[in-house]
Amino acid sequence: MDAEGWNERYAGKEFVWSVEPNRFVAELTAELPPGRAIDLAGGEGRNGVWLATRGWDATVVDFSRAGLDKATRLAEAESVTVTTVCADLTRWSPAPDAYDLVLHVYLHLPAEQRAQVYAAGAAAVAPGGHFVLIGHDRSNVEYGYGGPPYPEILATPDEVVGALDGFEISRSEVAERPVQTDDGERIALDTLVMARRWG
Ligand SMILES: C[S@@+](CC[C@H](N)C(=O)[O-])C[C@H]1O[C@@H](n2cnc3c(N)ncnc32)[C@H](O)[C@@H]1O
Repeated sequence: MDAEGWNERYAGKEFVWSVEPNRFVAELTAELPPGRAIDLAGGEGRNGVWLATRGWDATVVDFSRAGLDKATRLAEAESVTVTTVCADLTRWSPAPDAYDLVLHVYLHLPAEQRAQVYAAGAAAVAPGGHFVLIGHDRSNVEYGYGGPPYPEILATPDEVVGALDGFEISRSEVAERPVQTDDGERIALDTLVMARRWG
């Protein structure tokens, strides 16, 4: 979906995603000391704002202005601030070596574009900082619940790890995420990677 499509999806007052952080983001970052964080394709800001409430200097990047406006409103409601950057990540890159945490949560792109975005995200991690990626796993199309039904835009943990030179990998797995539905609990399968850049 292009930026216009996402603007339409985010146009209503209600949040499309939760206002709570993604469960894996919360789990993986809870023990990290606050610093500078950037959330790539951060949408309505649920993760960036949560980080800001925990003392992080958080930047949320997305190509949807409507999503970022909601991120700003969510931050105001939580009495914190986040920096927003409206940019297309296939054409814009964060500053290199600049962030203690680079988040990449449910951004799904064709292979060439995602390789470029992973490389730029990895380059943005400061020495000793962390790269965290969560997305629908490619196997989710066949075996999991929800998510885009297009394997070509989905990655695997091995593919993400392969893009990370100079990092120590602390987590690399297909993680099960229970989802409550009208038909009971279903399991979504997520790619989950956490890595620390050598200091
Ligand atoms: C599934 S949503 C996830 C939002 C957020 N990461 C979260 O977990 O709540 C995907 C987001 O990626 C953004 N996006 C998609 N392609 C993008 C691109 N090329 N550049 C910047 N943002 C993009 C969309 O606007 C949307 O907010």
